[in-house]
Amino acid sequence: MKVPLTVVFLGAPGAGKGTQARVLSGEYGIPHVSTGDILREAIKSKSPLGMEAKKKMDAGELVSDEIVCLIVEERLRRVDCSQGFILDGFPRTIAQAERLAEMLPRLLFPLPMVFHINVGEEELVKRLTGRRSCSVCRQIYNIYGQRPRIEDQCDVCGGKLELREDDKMEVIQERFTEYTNQTEPLIQYYRERGLLFEIDGSKDINSINQDILSVIKSSKVLSN
Ligand code: AP5
Repeated sequence: MKVPLTVVFLGAPGAGKGTQARVLSGEYGIPHVSTGDILREAIKSKSPLGMEAKKKMDAGELVSDEIVCLIVEERLRRVDCSQGFILDGFPRTIAQAERLAEMLPRLLFPLPMVFHINVGEEELVKRLTGRRSCSVCRQIYNIYGQRPRIEDQCDVCGGKLELREDDKMEVIQERFTEYTNQTEPLIQYYRERGLLFEIDGSKDINSINQDILSVIKSSKVLSN
Protein backbone atom coordinates (compact mmCIF):
# COMPACT_ATOMS: atom_id res chain seq x y z
CA MET A 1 0.00 0.00 0.00
CA LYS A 2 1.21 3.53 -0.84
CA VAL A 3 2.35 5.52 2.21
CA PRO A 4 0.49 8.86 2.36
CA LEU A 5 2.60 11.97 1.81
CA THR A 6 2.30 14.37 4.74
CA VAL A 7 3.95 17.78 4.39
CA VAL A 8 4.15 20.88 6.59
CA PHE A 9 5.21 24.27 5.25
CA LEU A 10 6.81 26.47 7.88
CA GLY A 11 7.93 30.05 7.30
CA ALA A 12 7.32 33.69 8.13
CA PRO A 13 4.31 35.59 6.75
CA GLY A 14 4.88 36.03 3.01
CA ALA A 15 7.59 33.36 2.73
CA GLY A 16 5.65 31.56 -0.01
CA LYS A 17 4.04 28.70 1.95
CA GLY A 18 0.68 29.05 0.21
CA THR A 19 2.26 29.42 -3.22
CA GLN A 20 4.37 26.27 -2.86
CA ALA A 21 1.57 24.31 -1.19
CA ARG A 22 -0.73 25.00 -4.15
CA VAL A 23 1.86 23.84 -6.69
CA LEU A 24 2.74 20.70 -4.73
CA SER A 25 -0.92 19.91 -4.18
CA GLY A 26 -1.42 19.91 -7.97
CA GLU A 27 1.66 17.75 -8.53
CA TYR A 28 0.72 15.07 -5.99
CA GLY A 29 -3.07 15.33 -6.16
CA ILE A 30 -3.39 15.76 -2.40
CA PRO A 31 -5.25 18.59 -0.62
CA HIS A 32 -3.69 21.89 0.36
CA VAL A 33 -4.92 22.54 3.90
CA SER A 34 -4.44 26.20 4.84
CA THR A 35 -5.66 27.18 8.29
CA GLY A 36 -5.52 30.83 7.18
CA ASP A 37 -7.84 30.12 4.21
CA ILE A 38 -10.23 28.05 6.36
CA LEU A 39 -10.44 30.88 8.91
CA ARG A 40 -10.93 33.51 6.17
CA GLU A 41 -13.82 31.41 4.75
CA ALA A 42 -15.37 31.28 8.22
CA ILE A 43 -15.12 35.08 8.44
CA LYS A 44 -16.77 35.47 5.03
CA SER A 45 -19.68 33.24 6.05
CA LYS A 46 -20.02 35.22 9.32
CA SER A 47 -20.08 32.01 11.37
CA PRO A 48 -19.46 32.27 15.16
CA LEU A 49 -15.98 30.81 14.57
CA GLY A 50 -15.32 33.45 11.90
CA MET A 51 -16.44 36.28 14.18
CA GLU A 52 -14.11 35.07 16.92
CA ALA A 53 -11.18 34.60 14.52
CA LYS A 54 -11.63 37.97 12.79
CA LYS A 55 -10.65 40.05 15.82
CA LYS A 56 -7.39 38.14 16.20
CA MET A 57 -6.52 37.98 12.52
CA ASP A 58 -7.18 41.67 11.89
CA ALA A 59 -4.79 42.44 14.74
CA GLY A 60 -2.13 40.07 13.39
CA GLU A 61 -2.45 37.78 16.42
CA LEU A 62 -2.86 34.01 16.48
CA VAL A 63 -6.24 32.31 16.87
CA SER A 64 -6.45 29.94 19.88
CA ASP A 65 -4.69 26.59 19.66
CA GLU A 66 -7.88 24.80 20.67
CA ILE A 67 -9.94 26.19 17.76
CA VAL A 68 -7.24 25.65 15.15
CA CYS A 69 -6.48 22.08 16.25
CA LEU A 70 -10.18 21.15 16.06
CA ILE A 71 -10.39 22.62 12.54
CA VAL A 72 -7.33 20.70 11.37
CA GLU A 73 -8.39 17.36 12.84
CA GLU A 74 -11.84 17.67 11.28
CA ARG A 75 -10.22 18.48 7.90
CA LEU A 76 -7.67 15.63 8.00
CA ARG A 77 -10.42 13.11 8.73
CA ARG A 78 -12.07 13.79 5.37
CA VAL A 79 -11.68 11.13 2.72
CA ASP A 80 -9.77 13.34 0.27
CA CYS A 81 -6.83 13.36 2.72
CA SER A 82 -6.43 9.56 2.67
CA GLN A 83 -3.40 9.75 0.31
CA GLY A 84 -1.89 12.62 2.27
CA PHE A 85 -2.09 16.40 2.60
CA ILE A 86 -0.08 19.60 2.73
CA LEU A 87 -0.40 21.76 5.83
CA ASP A 88 0.13 25.48 5.28
CA GLY A 89 0.14 27.68 8.39
CA PHE A 90 -0.25 24.81 10.86
CA PRO A 91 1.32 24.08 13.29
CA ARG A 92 2.25 27.56 14.46
CA THR A 93 2.97 26.99 18.14
CA ILE A 94 4.69 24.21 20.08
CA ALA A 95 1.29 23.26 21.55
CA GLN A 96 -0.11 22.81 18.00
CA ALA A 97 2.93 20.74 16.99
CA GLU A 98 2.40 18.48 20.01
CA ARG A 99 -1.27 18.05 19.06
CA LEU A 100 -0.29 17.19 15.48
CA ALA A 101 2.27 14.65 16.71
CA GLU A 102 -0.47 12.98 18.74
CA MET A 103 -3.10 13.27 15.99
CA LEU A 104 -1.16 11.81 13.05
CA PRO A 105 -0.53 8.26 14.34
CA ARG A 106 -4.08 8.17 15.71
CA LEU A 107 -5.40 8.95 12.19
CA LEU A 108 -2.89 6.45 10.72
CA PHE A 109 -0.71 9.07 9.00
CA PRO A 110 3.11 9.06 9.02
CA LEU A 111 5.16 11.88 10.55
CA PRO A 112 5.40 14.90 8.23
CA MET A 113 8.24 16.25 6.13
CA VAL A 114 8.62 19.83 7.35
CA PHE A 115 9.91 22.42 4.88
CA HIS A 116 11.14 25.66 6.38
CA ILE A 117 11.00 28.30 3.64
CA ASN A 118 13.54 30.92 4.61
CA VAL A 119 13.27 34.53 3.27
CA GLY A 120 14.77 37.83 4.53
CA GLU A 121 12.49 40.44 6.14
CA GLU A 122 12.82 43.14 3.47
CA GLU A 123 11.69 40.71 0.76
CA LEU A 124 8.84 39.45 3.00
CA VAL A 125 7.43 42.98 3.36
CA LYS A 126 7.59 43.48 -0.41
CA ARG A 127 5.81 40.17 -1.05
CA LEU A 128 3.05 40.88 1.50
CA THR A 129 2.29 44.45 0.44
CA GLY A 130 2.32 43.37 -3.22
CA ARG A 131 0.14 40.29 -2.76
CA ARG A 132 -3.35 40.13 -4.25
CA SER A 133 -5.60 37.10 -3.65
CA CYS A 134 -8.63 35.96 -5.60
CA SER A 135 -11.75 36.54 -3.51
CA VAL A 136 -13.34 33.39 -5.03
CA CYS A 137 -10.72 30.63 -5.57
CA ARG A 138 -7.86 32.08 -3.40
CA GLN A 139 -5.30 31.94 -6.24
CA ILE A 140 -2.35 34.17 -5.26
CA TYR A 141 -0.78 36.97 -7.35
CA ASN A 142 1.74 39.72 -6.78
CA ILE A 143 1.93 43.19 -8.31
CA TYR A 144 5.75 42.92 -8.38
CA GLY A 145 5.94 39.56 -10.12
CA GLN A 146 3.06 37.15 -10.57
CA ARG A 147 0.67 39.64 -12.17
CA PRO A 148 -2.74 38.53 -13.48
CA ARG A 149 -3.33 38.84 -17.25
CA ILE A 150 -6.12 41.38 -16.62
CA GLU A 151 -5.65 43.85 -13.78
CA ASP A 152 -7.50 42.91 -10.54
CA GLN A 153 -9.03 39.81 -12.18
CA CYS A 154 -8.15 36.17 -11.45
CA ASP A 155 -6.70 34.25 -14.42
CA VAL A 156 -8.22 31.00 -13.13
CA CYS A 157 -11.84 31.90 -12.33
CA GLY A 158 -12.26 35.59 -13.23
CA GLY A 159 -12.87 36.49 -9.55
CA LYS A 160 -11.99 39.91 -8.19
CA LEU A 161 -8.51 40.25 -6.67
CA GLU A 162 -8.23 41.79 -3.21
CA LEU A 163 -5.64 42.94 -0.70
CA ARG A 164 -5.83 40.94 2.53
CA GLU A 165 -6.88 42.93 5.63
CA ASP A 166 -3.76 41.74 7.46
CA ASP A 167 -1.38 42.74 4.65
CA LYS A 168 -1.48 46.36 5.77
CA MET A 169 1.85 47.61 7.06
CA GLU A 170 0.79 48.11 10.71
CA VAL A 171 -0.55 44.54 10.97
CA ILE A 172 2.42 42.98 9.14
CA GLN A 173 4.78 44.05 11.95
CA GLU A 174 2.59 42.36 14.58
CA ARG A 175 2.48 39.18 12.48
CA PHE A 176 6.29 39.13 12.33
CA THR A 177 6.44 39.50 16.13
CA GLU A 178 3.99 36.61 16.60
CA TYR A 179 6.04 34.53 14.18
CA THR A 180 9.31 35.20 16.04
CA ASN A 181 7.82 34.50 19.46
CA GLN A 182 5.45 31.63 18.75
CA THR A 183 6.38 29.92 15.49
CA GLU A 184 10.15 30.20 15.06
CA PRO A 185 10.78 27.78 17.97
CA LEU A 186 9.20 25.09 15.76
CA ILE A 187 12.26 25.16 13.50
CA GLN A 188 14.40 23.78 16.34
CA TYR A 189 11.56 21.47 17.46
CA TYR A 190 11.41 19.75 14.07
CA ARG A 191 15.18 19.84 13.54
CA GLU A 192 15.66 17.87 16.80
CA ARG A 193 13.19 15.27 15.52
CA GLY A 194 14.99 14.90 12.19
CA LEU A 195 11.94 16.09 10.20
CA LEU A 196 13.17 19.55 9.07
CA PHE A 197 14.34 20.49 5.57
CA GLU A 198 15.69 24.00 4.97
CA ILE A 199 14.60 25.64 1.71
CA ASP A 200 16.08 28.84 0.27
CA GLY A 201 12.90 30.88 -0.29
CA SER A 202 14.68 33.77 -2.02
CA LYS A 203 14.76 31.83 -5.32
CA ASP A 204 12.02 32.01 -7.94
CA ILE A 205 8.83 29.97 -7.44
CA ASN A 206 9.75 27.22 -9.91
CA SER A 207 13.28 26.71 -8.51
CA ILE A 208 11.89 26.42 -4.98
CA ASN A 209 9.37 23.85 -6.19
CA GLN A 210 12.21 21.85 -7.80
CA ASP A 211 14.21 21.95 -4.54
CA ILE A 212 11.18 20.67 -2.61
CA LEU A 213 10.47 17.92 -5.15
CA SER A 214 14.04 16.68 -5.07
CA VAL A 215 13.91 16.37 -1.25
CA ILE A 216 10.61 14.46 -1.42
CA LYS A 217 11.86 12.15 -4.18
CA SER A 218 15.18 11.39 -2.45
CA SER A 219 13.45 10.67 0.85
CA LYS A 220 11.07 8.28 -0.94
CA VAL A 221 14.04 6.45 -2.44
CA LEU A 222 15.59 6.13 1.03
CA SER A 223 12.37 4.81 2.57
CA ASN A 224 11.79 2.18 -0.15
P1 AP5 B 1 -2.01 32.68 7.08
O1 AP5 B 1 -3.01 32.87 6.01
O2 AP5 B 1 -1.46 31.32 7.29
O3 AP5 B 1 -0.86 33.74 6.84
P2 AP5 B 1 0.74 33.68 7.03
O4 AP5 B 1 1.30 32.50 7.71
O5 AP5 B 1 1.05 34.99 7.66
O6 AP5 B 1 1.25 33.48 5.64
P3 AP5 B 1 0.84 34.21 4.37
O7 AP5 B 1 -0.41 33.59 3.80
O8 AP5 B 1 0.79 35.69 4.62
O9 AP5 B 1 2.10 33.99 3.43
P4 AP5 B 1 2.61 32.72 2.64
O10 AP5 B 1 3.87 32.23 3.27
O11 AP5 B 1 1.53 31.72 2.41
O12 AP5 B 1 3.01 33.44 1.29
P5 AP5 B 1 2.30 33.40 -0.17
O13 AP5 B 1 2.53 32.09 -0.81
O14 AP5 B 1 0.91 33.92 -0.10
O15 AP5 B 1 -2.59 33.16 8.47
C1 AP5 B 1 -3.27 34.38 8.61
C2 AP5 B 1 -3.75 34.54 10.04
O16 AP5 B 1 -4.66 33.47 10.37
C3 AP5 B 1 -2.69 34.48 11.13
O17 AP5 B 1 -2.05 35.74 11.33
C4 AP5 B 1 -3.50 34.03 12.33
O18 AP5 B 1 -4.22 35.09 12.89
C5 AP5 B 1 -4.47 33.04 11.72
N1 AP5 B 1 -3.97 31.66 11.72
C6 AP5 B 1 -3.71 30.89 10.61
N2 AP5 B 1 -3.23 29.69 10.98
C7 AP5 B 1 -3.17 29.69 12.34
C8 AP5 B 1 -2.72 28.74 13.30
N3 AP5 B 1 -2.26 27.54 12.94
N4 AP5 B 1 -2.79 29.08 14.61
C9 AP5 B 1 -3.28 30.28 15.00
N5 AP5 B 1 -3.70 31.24 14.14
C10 AP5 B 1 -3.65 30.94 12.80
O19 AP5 B 1 3.23 34.48 -0.93
C11 AP5 B 1 3.21 35.84 -0.55
C12 AP5 B 1 3.37 36.72 -1.81
O20 AP5 B 1 4.68 36.49 -2.36
C13 AP5 B 1 2.39 36.36 -2.95
O21 AP5 B 1 1.97 37.54 -3.59
C14 AP5 B 1 3.20 35.47 -3.91
O22 AP5 B 1 2.76 35.63 -5.24
C15 AP5 B 1 4.62 36.02 -3.71
N6 AP5 B 1 5.66 34.97 -3.83
C16 AP5 B 1 5.59 33.70 -3.35
N7 AP5 B 1 6.75 33.04 -3.61
C17 AP5 B 1 7.55 33.93 -4.25
C18 AP5 B 1 8.87 33.85 -4.79
N8 AP5 B 1 9.61 32.74 -4.69
N9 AP5 B 1 9.40 34.95 -5.38
C19 AP5 B 1 8.68 36.10 -5.48
N10 AP5 B 1 7.40 36.25 -5.00
C20 AP5 B 1 6.85 35.16 -4.39
